[in-house]
Amino acid sequence: MRKKIVAGNWKMNMDLTEGAELVNEIFKGLPVLSEDKQVVIAPPYLHLTQTASQLTGMIDVQLGAQNCHSEASGAYTGEVSASMLKSAEVAYVIIGHSERREYFKEDSTTLGKKVNQVLSNDMKVIFCCGEPLDIRDAGTQNTYVEGQIKEGLFHLPESQLANVVLAYEPIWAIGTGRTATSAQAQDMHAHIRSVIAAQYGGDAAANMTILYGGSCKPSNAAELFACTDVDGGLIGGASLKAADFLGIIEAMADL
Ligand code: 13P
Repeated sequence: MRKKIVAGNWKMNMDLTEGAELVNEIFKGLPVLSEDKQVVIAPPYLHLTQTASQLTGMIDVQLGAQNCHSEASGAYTGEVSASMLKSAEVAYVIIGHSERREYFKEDSTTLGKKVNQVLSNDMKVIFCCGEPLDIRDAGTQNTYVEGQIKEGLFHLPESQLANVVLAYEPIWAIGTGRTATSAQAQDMHAHIRSVIAAQYGGDAAANMTILYGGSCKPSNAAELFACTDVDGGLIGGASLKAADFLGIIEAMADL
């Protein structure tokens, strides 16, 4: 049975004090989760060791990072490698977020290398895909997202796919307050699952966790998570307020 996950992507927010307080607040309100459910907190790099020590002994809540470099080590000033993240007890690394693709010009070749770095360091990938508004308006979103998945992931053997989580984040819904409807999310998630099935077979597709991201909040999480092919969420803005993030975790806990 595939895992359900609620992951908080803090993006470039929170200083160390604010981050520690947020994690404490989340702990205070955390519901009991069944074994097939998982929370991930992905703070900025600077927070990782602090957050890791706060998460010591927690099984339900795992540490995530928002990025890593595509090479193993070397003269890349300012960058952080996958093995460094592993040594900081990171379990999940977000790769291919639309903000990385857009602002940092990360292309599919780079993303494929990053995926390999994460997997070869025994961490899990949260691989993001999602179309901009003009593609949605043109009705070609399925082909667009399929291309992102093929280019970023299809070099992997099936044995490694179990360590990949997909996150569908329509760019027009990120931070805009404009959420995909549950029908739009379900349609795309079903399409993504069929793309995985065509390449890797039905079992791999059935076991793949596919998260929705884009203005997910306590008021819409339950409806989105109720969709057959939506296995949780990758949360931006609402992961920065304990009450909101907990509300979304509750929606997953109730499934
Ligand atoms: P928002 O939840 O702020 O729309 O961000 C979604 C996102 O980009 C998570 O990675």
